[in-house]
Amino acid sequence: IPVLSVASECAPLIKTGGLADVVGALPHALAAEGIETRVMLPGYPSVMTACAPGDPVMEEAGLFGGAACLRPATYRGLSLYILDAPHLFAREGSIYLDAEGEDWPDNPERFAALSWMGARLAAEGGEDGWVPRVLHCHDWQAGFAPLYLREMGAAERCASVMTVHNIAFHGFAPAERRHELRLPEEGWRPEGYEYWGRISALKAGLTSADRITTVSPTYAAELTTQEFGMGLEGVISERSSDLAGILNGIDLDAWNPATDPAILTYKTHRGKARNRAALRAELGLYDSGGPLAVVVSRLTHQKGLDLLLEALPEFLEAGGQLGMLGSGDRRMEVAWQEIAAEHPNVAVRIGYDEALAHRLIAGGDAILVPSRFEPCGLTQLYGLRYGTVPVVAQTGGLADTVISANDAALRAGVATGLTFSPVTAPALGRALSRVTALFADHEVWGRIQRNAMRHPVGWDVSAAAYAALYHDLLRDK
Ligand code: ADP
Ligand code: GLC
Repeated sequence: IPVLSVASECAPLIKTGGLADVVGALPHALAAEGIETRVMLPGYPSVMTACAPGDPVMEEAGLFGGAACLRPATYRGLSLYILDAPHLFAREGSIYLDAEGEDWPDNPERFAALSWMGARLAAEGGEDGWVPRVLHCHDWQAGFAPLYLREMGAAERCASVMTVHNIAFHGFAPAERRHELRLPEEGWRPEGYEYWGRISALKAGLTSADRITTVSPTYAAELTTQEFGMGLEGVISERSSDLAGILNGIDLDAWNPATDPAILTYKTHRGKARNRAALRAELGLYDSGGPLAVVVSRLTHQKGLDLLLEALPEFLEAGGQLGMLGSGDRRMEVAWQEIAAEHPNVAVRIGYDEALAHRLIAGGDAILVPSRFEPCGLTQLYGLRYGTVPVVAQTGGLADTVISANDAALRAGVATGLTFSPVTAPALGRALSRVTALFADHEVWGRIQRNAMRHPVGWDVSAAAYAALYHDLLRDK
């Protein structure tokens, strides 16, 4: 089955979060299922430089204020179409934000352009006779694509899937831009792309795609509730028979403690000791004898790291230490730097650093993910693979991937980490006390680490689930 995947990020080319990892990994995982995926991406400067795209295969003289074309490219085994539209994408800095940290004012047009060309390629086919049968759209940046596909009259032939990686981002645009954005007037209603007087790109996708998926079964269920649906719970509930939760995997080659070039490689959890010593030296932490917890995260409200700020003093008091790598919200960055300055047992690195992320995960005893909501989460999966015990909020994909070390699970010998709920500072504090206690018992802690390392975190099961979904969809076409 030929599949066109449309997204704003794709690892290793351009990444701000887990979306990129998933978009970059799925084509490889799906190839084993006989599915040929090509990925369409915006031509950001770094993407244009890295993959040197070829001659245009589709052009549009006026695409939201300038000329644009699609250029094919290949990059490390990925087949790509790059949307070359300098007026929309040739700018330095963040792919979503201007120098002041505000959304680029033309974000609606930028990603409508991506969605439009995605729909056109799905409707008309590629240069070499390649005609997609499924248009797979990721998050709000591709949200208009299934709607455009319908408008182009191609939805009968080509199926569409809308995958929600994070419902928190709608991709809003002011109502009066709907004509410029080439949106059909009859969709301007609550059953269409209108959301309380504004245009919502994600809602356009949710109401017009053939199927909706999200990145874990628990998040799929949560999306239908007021607590997690962020105002879209009604729309999603209406479509619950078209909704599936398919768990993300991780790239087992990039995240393999036995071969990872960024660390001192190891095959069993015992090999972590050398990495922990190296990490402590790097972070300027002495050996407290207690557990070294790590965090690798965007610093946003979603990630709940303000709860960790509150719960931390008691953990430090008990001999715990923390190494954190993150960036995002300026106030949170400052708060964490202040704590690090005050406490010899806390080391904080603000920034984005792939290699340091690997060293933290290899050297840490536990990895903390106290998210208020988490569609899937990838860092707890890295933790599992590296024998770095995940301590996670009992929500979304975190709940689906970690088996908590309660008494029953310990007796049955199946625990892989710790989960806590409700997602509050006191509950996190109790989980951290339990980490300190369990860590002190080498045998029990070692067994949790071994279980964690054996837990399957690859793509095979989920790739088969996506393949089955595509087949199912095409049976109806
Ligand atoms: P989200 O996509 O919500 O940020 P995920 O857990 O799905 O959360 O994915 C986050 C990805 O980004 C992981 O691959 C993680 O290692 C990476 N990451 C997050 N922050 C940093 C950072 N400061 N430095 C390096 N990698 C980071
Ligand atoms: C989003 C979610 C995260 C998920 C990732 C990839 O960024 O916040 O939980 O793992 O997408 O699907």
